[in-house]
Amino acid sequence: MALELELVSPIEVAKDVALAVQEYTLLSAQSVANFFRRPLYMGDMLQQADLIGVGSLPIVILTGLSVGALLALNAASTLQRFGGITLIGQLVSIGMVTELGPLITGLMVAGRNASGMASELGSMIVTEQIDAMRALGTDPTKKLITPRIGATAFMLFFLTIIADLLGLIGGYAVAHLIFGLNSQQSAGRRIYDSHCDRCHEPYSTRGKKGPGLKGMFQHKYLSLSGLPANDERVTDIIRLGRNEMPGYSQTLSSQDLQDLLAYLHTL
Ligand code: HEC
Repeated sequence: MALELELVSPIEVAKDVALAVQEYTLLSAQSVANFFRRPLYMGDMLQQADLIGVGSLPIVILTGLSVGALLALNAASTLQRFGGITLIGQLVSIGMVTELGPLITGLMVAGRNASGMASELGSMIVTEQIDAMRALGTDPTKKLITPRIGATAFMLFFLTIIADLLGLIGGYAVAHLIFGLNSQQSAGRRIYDSHCDRCHEPYSTRGKKGPGLKGMFQHKYLSLSGLPANDERVTDIIRLGRNEMPGYSQTLSSQDLQDLLAYLHTL
């Protein structure tokens, strides 16, 4: 048999595309409208919620965890350069909860379930089950499509929460296990921001009024005074002050000083 190549006019192609869009829109509108017409096949909806929601749990957990961890891993080197590695928690939580969590959940649920639904419903058409349904007086969109849409929308809500949570856990694991961060350093950063930031730059070795503090514990001696860069000396400097720097023995408790020092070590 000779291979028949048919030339299709672009207008025909455009018509086909327009028709597909139209049918898709109508089907979507109808399946949503079905929510307001009885009967509501709650049993099917529950079954689909189980298949779609619980079935998608493993992949949502896996992607949520890895996206959160990767976000932290990726951002860490850039944040480190600006003395802000302690901000990694804010970065991961805002990124996960507002953007990446919903996005990856939507993509994963669509990817996992859409093709399965298409083949299931397609085989029902081929075996004429849909026609049989129609003959018996059941609306196939109401019985087959609406429960799937309702169940997906309902379960996406919970899956997104789970993906967000797992993303936060992944980010925490990276920040804690790889970069050794803890809440003490975050507390220290807040003290730094309110007391030291107006005179010291955390992300450069040049300064504002005082010398920049980036990498202050990386060398043996402090850059300006040449004093040994260890916890005792720096604590003394903070408590007693130096020339133009005020002392903080009155303002900061010893717990504050410890937190602050923990933060300074991350610079
Ligand atoms: C009013 C501005 C000001 C504030 C606020 C301030 N500093 Fe300073 N700091 C200075 C100046 C100026 C120097 C340099 C002093 C000198 O040796 O002449 C300095 C020096 C230092 C040094 C020694 C650096 C070196 O290389 O010798 C450290 C460490 C330090 N400050 C930490 C802190 C910390 C931590 C805080 C917050 C609790 C803080 N400073 C708040 C102005 C300030």
